[in-house]
Amino acid sequence: MQRPAFIVDHLRSALVLVVALAAAAAAIAPAEASPASATDTNQGAVHRANPRGPVVWSHRGASKNAPEETTAAYERALADGADVLEGDLAQTKDGVLVVIHDNTLARTTNVEEVFPDRAPWNVADFTLAEIKQLDAGSWWDPAFAGQQILTLHEWFELNHGRAGLAPELKSPTLYPGMVENLAKELRAWGYTHDLKAKNRAPQIWVQSFDEAGLRQFHALLPEVPTLLLRSGYPFMTASDEVLTELATWTTAVAGNPVQTTASQVRRVQSFGLQVVSEVEDGPSLLSMIEHQGYDYMFTDVPNVAKAVLADKKPLRTNRGVIVDSVVYNPEGSDVAVNGGEYVALRNTTDKPINISGYTLREFGNTLLRVGDDAVIEPGSLHKVYVGPGTDRPNAHFNGLTTPVLADTVTDHIYLYNPDQVMEDLYSYIAS
Ligand code: G3P
Ligand code: CA
Repeated sequence: MQRPAFIVDHLRSALVLVVALAAAAAAIAPAEASPASATDTNQGAVHRANPRGPVVWSHRGASKNAPEETTAAYERALADGADVLEGDLAQTKDGVLVVIHDNTLARTTNVEEVFPDRAPWNVADFTLAEIKQLDAGSWWDPAFAGQQILTLHEWFELNHGRAGLAPELKSPTLYPGMVENLAKELRAWGYTHDLKAKNRAPQIWVQSFDEAGLRQFHALLPEVPTLLLRSGYPFMTASDEVLTELATWTTAVAGNPVQTTASQVRRVQSFGLQVVSEVEDGPSLLSMIEHQGYDYMFTDVPNVAKAVLADKKPLRTNRGVIVDSVVYNPEGSDVAVNGGEYVALRNTTDKPINISGYTLREFGNTLLRVGDDAVIEPGSLHKVYVGPGTDRPNAHFNGLTTPVLADTVTDHIYLYNPDQVMEDLYSYIAS
């Protein structure tokens, strides 16, 4: 099959660039992380993917500024400087690979309105023609109405070689032939080699929690880098034998900066494996990823990640309202009436601020409202409760019956102004 034109262009340009840049890079690049830096574990040489700092992977696109895995989210990620775009794969009833995180269409589309009798609305039960009738943007915000679920093919075209791509084989056991289909598509697009994209990222990278599926993919296209995911990140403290075996076939494993140390990261790297972070968004957690020496920084907010890496202020609050603090695990029920978990906003100015129309989201995307006509006095707090209760002048209750703020590991709280611009981002480590 003919290779798409932009790939050919890309290869030609890359060849010229590689020759020119190789000499320049040798002259100006800081020294690669030297083997000596791994002496505390002394497993061998460490070669970080990019000695100038972690490569930024944009998780589901810029998925806290636009509906995840849509054109809007990926274009925003590219505009925000992402080096790699991440997306999850599922397969339609007629065998087409599409980019969507869940195995059901219910959470991120209007499928329940369009096809009310087709519960549980699994991707595998719908043809591509049916899926293309769905709106994949309005669930996030009406401003994104009309966004569609992308096919893998459309995702490649959208990217057009501007960044690396990291498709995830989310549930290969649910979709017969999915692994072979992905390998076939990659071959057709010329993605069989570890070609470098932006910032030394591979042009294509396949990841999965499903080790059998990922090994199957590796057997089909061994030159394409792979990332093995596993809940709890056991590989970061795995035995020498396990790491040695993993390095025979996978390129990278994932770690969580809250649970790892720099020496653990270096030890894994010294086996020839690269290390990708858990998805993190707050500046402090992103700094931890950088300073522990991870190869790849996984984030929903590539603009924030790039600012952190450049030692710049990540976000600018337009009016002076910030997320001051979070009470995620109060005594008693997290959704107790007139109590429970809450986010405290603070007015950092010396004038009252009306925050009508501001909203909050947390990492799981639950939307919280701040209350109609809420005004924060200078230097004061306004508490946004998750659960039910009666509003007070400095507190609004969202009436939810299920807790939202994580009590374990980490969570992130995002503050948006009425124009949907993210003005502040607060992260906390719960355990
Ligand atoms: O941690 C890697 C990432 O791809 C897994 O997250 O969004 O697919 O659940 P997610
Ligand atoms: Ca994913």
